[in-house]
This record gives sequence, C-alpha cells and structure tokens, in this order.
Amino acid sequence: MKQTVQVYPDLETMSRKAASLIIELAEPAVRMKGFFTLVLSGGSTPQRLYRLLGEEYMDQMPWERVHLFWGDERNVPKDSSESNFRLAWDAMISKVPIPNQNIHSVPTKPESPAAAATSYEACIRDFFHVKGEDARPPAFDLVLLGLGADGHTASLFPGDPVLSEKKRWVSAVHAPSAYKTGERITLTLPILNCAEEVMFIVSGVEKKGMIKNIINDPAQARKKIPAAMIIPRKKSPGFWTQPQHRI
Ligand code: 6PG
Repeated sequence: MKQTVQVYPDLETMSRKAASLIIELAEPAVRMKGFFTLVLSGGSTPQRLYRLLGEEYMDQMPWERVHLFWGDERNVPKDSSESNFRLAWDAMISKVPIPNQNIHSVPTKPESPAAAATSYEACIRDFFHVKGEDARPPAFDLVLLGLGADGHTASLFPGDPVLSEKKRWVSAVHAPSAYKTGERITLTLPILNCAEEVMFIVSGVEKKGMIKNIINDPAQARKKIPAAMIIPRKKSPGFWTQPQHRI
C-alpha cells in the first residue's frame, strides 16, 4: 500500500495545507455523523498547525462538533512543559469555542502510567460506545502523527514490545533514554490502523533518510520501523513533509 507524499517548501505552507485538509475532512464527518474525531500529535512540528487552527482558521472549524483525542502523552501533569495536552492547549484549544466535554485528554497519573493507559482506553470506549475486550477498535476520522528520526511515531518506538500489541488500544510505554519524559501513554497499532485517515506531519532534515526508507520500501520498513507499521485499513497514510525530504 503506497503512501501518498506531499512535499511543501516550508513549515508554514505545510501547516496551512494541513489546516485546510482538516477543515475539509471535518465538514463531511459532521454532516454525516454529527461529529468529527481528531487525534492530535505531540512534538514541535504541529505547533504552527495548531496555532493556525486556533487563530486564523478558527472560524472554519465546527468546534462545537469536534472531539479531540491524543495519539500519545507524556505521563506528566497537564501544566507541564512536556505535556502534549499543554502544547495543544496553549496553541489552539484555549482560543477556540470547543466544549470541555469534547476534549478527551489522557488522564495522566504520574504514580501509575498503566492505570492512565487503562483509564484512557475506557474513555475512548465510552465515547464510541464500544464494549467487549475483543471488539474492533473504533475509527477516528483523522489521526495526526509525527515522525522521529528513529522511525518512531506517537510513542511507538523501535523494538518496543507494544508493537506486537494486538488487543489493547492504549498502552503505557517507556521512551528510550534519549527522549525527555520516559514514561508515556500511547495509542497502539490496532486502533491507529482503524483510522479513516492518517496524516504524518514531518519536518526536520534529520528525518530524510527515514522517510525514504518508509516510502521506497514499505514492506521492508514495516518489519522494524513503527511509522511504517501504520497501515490504515481503508487508505494509505499521507506523508506531509518539506523539500529536504524529496523522495
Ligand atoms: C511526542 C510525539 C512524537 C513526535 C515525534 C516528532 O509525544 O513527542 O508524539 O511522536 O511526533 O517525536 O516530533 P517533532 O515534530 O518535534 O520532530
């Protein structure tokens, strides 16, 4: 399944295009279902996108019908500078008319990441009214993902046993020591791969080789690279990147 790759001249252009696509996807979802489920990514790349959605593009989003989730979270308090919730709150959520009950953040529990993961899975199950341990995961309308130079996405890192998870939708993991905030909560491949749409938003020349590996030989890449294991049931993921990644 070939991924689609869009290369943009700079972060600003990529962020504006991504904002427009999110607005385009929200409209039919709200029209058909009455709501739009958007999974946010952490990291620095989406910050400009979030700011655009919170400011210049704010009026184009049906905020009262948008439901926000997180693809992963650091197991820290919401006001921590490491928090992916705080990243989105400061750039976007604090500025838009989204009802509090539409903000489905990860209930981090510094004393127990495993309990935080269990609690977040219960939150997702409640929202989508899905019961049963073996039930098929729900389909988020759009999942935003970042990419690390090592091929990680969300908090799915190379070699982590969570990559073999087949049942749980949310798991507690420990990021490699090179990363800040080791303890994390992440959506797993089973639920990520049920998404209607997946969009990787990638910036940074250090990721050029990784993107090439994923795009040029997906079958080989998916053996070891977590981002390559994102294979949504319905459509291939879109990679949005910048010229230094020219494939
Ligand atoms: C996180 C993210 C992580 C991120 C990548 C890329 O919690 O940090 O979920 O997967 O998206 O590390 O981060 P940058 O966009 O900052 O390069």
